[in-house]
Amino acid sequence: MHVLIPAAGSGSRMKAGRNKLLIELEGESLIFWTIKSVLSASLVSWVGIIGQPNDKQELLKSVKNFSNKIKWINGGDTRQKSVFNGLNSLPSTAEKVLIHDGARCLIGPDLINKCASELEQNDAVVLATKVTDTIKIVDNKGYIKETPNRQNLWAAQTPQGFLVKRLREAHEMAIEKNWTVTDDASLFEMLNWQVKIIEGNSANIKITSPLDLKIAKLFLKDF
Ligand code: CTP
Ligand code: MG
Repeated sequence: MHVLIPAAGSGSRMKAGRNKLLIELEGESLIFWTIKSVLSASLVSWVGIIGQPNDKQELLKSVKNFSNKIKWINGGDTRQKSVFNGLNSLPSTAEKVLIHDGARCLIGPDLINKCASELEQNDAVVLATKVTDTIKIVDNKGYIKETPNRQNLWAAQTPQGFLVKRLREAHEMAIEKNWTVTDDASLFEMLNWQVKIIEGNSANIKITSPLDLKIAKLFLKDF
């Protein structure tokens, strides 16, 4: 299975003054932990890391233990563009691909394998968890408009897996129609293409704010 790792963000919400994936936790960078986990999944055969050219040296240095197993790809100024660049850098033999955010360093190899094997049966899969909070839809002034039924609500994570041909088609359509999305599954939904939910767990957080670093540190101690 081919895996693309978007790592070309700036980490603005982390307010660390640099790409949050370079922050060290338990002696290694955040991106190190993500790549370590991805490479430990037995079904993974190829890994591409998508980063900003400005970060290339530091990112690759922090994952130098794995340097012969990963390919560098230049990212774009949005996640969507970064993934599109990744798709265009896959070997032509790649039929299926998992996209996994560099910022989700707490993913375990088991869940990566689970996504990869479910992708055998489906054109698109998304790891997600059942929402436990009651979710409110709020207007621009900060007042609640609606409370959707929690039974149907899932929080999407990554990995998200796709048939390469269809994901590329979806991204090309998005460029043509000016659609902007924050994950790849959204493009499939907009095209009315089926996406299968795979139940993950709530430890697989996306490291976004300084508080998430504290949580990640606790979990990494068990790794
Ligand atoms: N990402 C990317 N290219 C971009 C923006 C984001 O590859 N132009 C990646 C990030 O590096 C991250 C993942 O997409 O691994 C999810 O994005 P997010 O958590 O939003 O990270 P950042 O964009 O870096 O953070 P922020 O939105 O707070 O600036
Ligand atoms: Mg972002």
